This record gives sequence, structure tokens and C-alpha cells, in this order.
Amino acid sequence: MSLIKMNNIQKHFGGVVALNDINFEVGENEVVGLMGDNGAGKSTLIKIITGLHPFDGGEMYIKGKKINPKKYSVKKAHQIGIETVYQEQALAEKQSLWRNIFLGRQKTNKLGFIKVKEEKEETNEIMRDMMGFTGIGANPDSNILTLSGGEKQGVAIGRAMHFDADLVILDEPTMALSLQEVEKVLNFIRDIKDRGKACIYISHNIANVYPVSDRFVVLDRGQIVGRYEREKISLEDFNTEMVELTKVEG
Ligand SMILES: Nc1ncnc2c1ncn2[C@@H]1O[C@H](COP(=O)(O)OP(=O)(O)OP(=O)(O)O)[C@@H](O)[C@H]1O
Ligand SMILES: [Mg+2]
Repeated sequence: MSLIKMNNIQKHFGGVVALNDINFEVGENEVVGLMGDNGAGKSTLIKIITGLHPFDGGEMYIKGKKINPKKYSVKKAHQIGIETVYQEQALAEKQSLWRNIFLGRQKTNKLGFIKVKEEKEETNEIMRDMMGFTGIGANPDSNILTLSGGEKQGVAIGRAMHFDADLVILDEPTMALSLQEVEKVLNFIRDIKDRGKACIYISHNIANVYPVSDRFVVLDRGQIVGRYEREKISLEDFNTEMVELTKVEG
């Protein structure tokens, strides 16, 4: 059974066809690299999966269950086990690390008060065990603003893993990550795979996507124009294919 299955998905923004006739699948424990130029529709596609945008044509199944776009939501996606690290803003800015980890899913006592101590302790564990933070600088009370781009991604991934998401979606931030930060993100993805979970990884960088993905799907102007299995294509050939696929005619 597929974790995600999209059949002929359509999405319009006013007159703009953002996605046209999308057939897209993610298997259990599969890492899918989603590629394509700026404006290709990558973020739109994952926002449909995460319940941020309703689709306006086609069918979507998650874990075999048919999704009603009118009733689907970000909250439902969380409940089903889908966690996302968005490109625009991985986390709610200006807040402490521990508040970000438990955003929208606070631990409360019978009176409804947030269990601050417990949440901070758990944040410490997540930082140590899942994000590999060694305690220099960052602690549960650290303001998110003080973290680097890679660390922010790390927090979001740590959160996803802590809540045991079955599918983690990573939409690479537009600002560049340092080489070290990229390596951290790639290690997170390898970890997701090792834990038996699935991942959709969006990046413009073929060299990053290639080693961690099982399959690649290429979008161009709202349509899927290429599908590859890593085992059947070398990085070099994939590079050549990508240049061909995204070439602007005329
Ligand atoms: N909320 C929105 N309202 C109107 N148009 C939108 C909206 N979101 C996306 N679009 C349009 O849909 C198309 C696909 O955008 P999308 O953000 O999915 O591209 P992308 O592949 O993620 O690009 P990038 O690599 O730059 O992040 C673009 O033409 C974009 O302008
Ligand atoms: Mg995008």
C-alpha cells in the first residue's frame, strides 16, 4: 500500500494552473526527491499533501484512505502522521525552542496548564538525541531567531521524528544552507529512512538529492516530466537529464 497516492490531481490559483494531471506516489519507507525549477509546482504539491491547500480535481489517498479536500486540514495531516518543514518559514519565529517543538500540541495538565518543565526536558532530549546539538549555545530556552538555517531545519525534523511521523516533508529553504548544515539535513533524511519512515525531499541541488533518495520525480510548469529510480541512473546521467528536461525552448 502506498503512503500517498495522487491520481490526476489539479490545482489552480485563479487563472494559473499550478498543477496539472499529477500522478504521484510515495511508498512506505521510501525517500522521494522532488525536483524542478522555480515555480514548477513543488511547494504547491506538498502543500496539498499537508492540508494547506485543497486540490480542485483528481483524487488523493493517504494510507489507502480517500481524502475529501473539503474536510482535509493541516491538523488532520498531523494526526495521520505527516510532518512538514516548510520552505518559507520552518518554524514560528521569535519563540523559544521548546515552544516551537510543542507548537499546536501542548502537553497540559487536568486544568489545562502547559507542563512547562516536562516540555523543556523533552526538548533537551530531542536536541541531544535527534538533532545532535551538543549544547553549545542552543538550549530549550533559546530563541529560534538565534539559530542558523540548518539548525532551524534540524528543530523541525527533530519535532517530526519525536512525534514519530510516518512521512516527513522537507521543502528546502530558499536561503542557502552552509555545507555543514546541508550535511546535517542529509543525515536527518538517512535517519528517517533507517527508522522505516518515508520522506519527500525538495531541493534544487541534484548532488544533495541524489545520494539520499530512492526515486526522483521532476516537475516542470505544473506537470511531471520525469521519473527515475536511483539504482537505474547515475548521478552524471541524471544531471544531463535534468538539464534537458528543464531547458526553456525558444
Ligand atoms: N498561494 C498562491 N497564490 C497564487 N499563486 C500561487 C500560490 N502559490 C503558488 N502559486 C503559483 O503556482 C506556481 C507554482 O508555485 P510553487 O510555489 O509550487 O513552485 P515551486 O516549484 O515550489 O518553486 P520554488 O522552487 O521557487 O520554490 C507558480 O506559478 C506560483 O506563482
Ligand atoms: Mg517552493
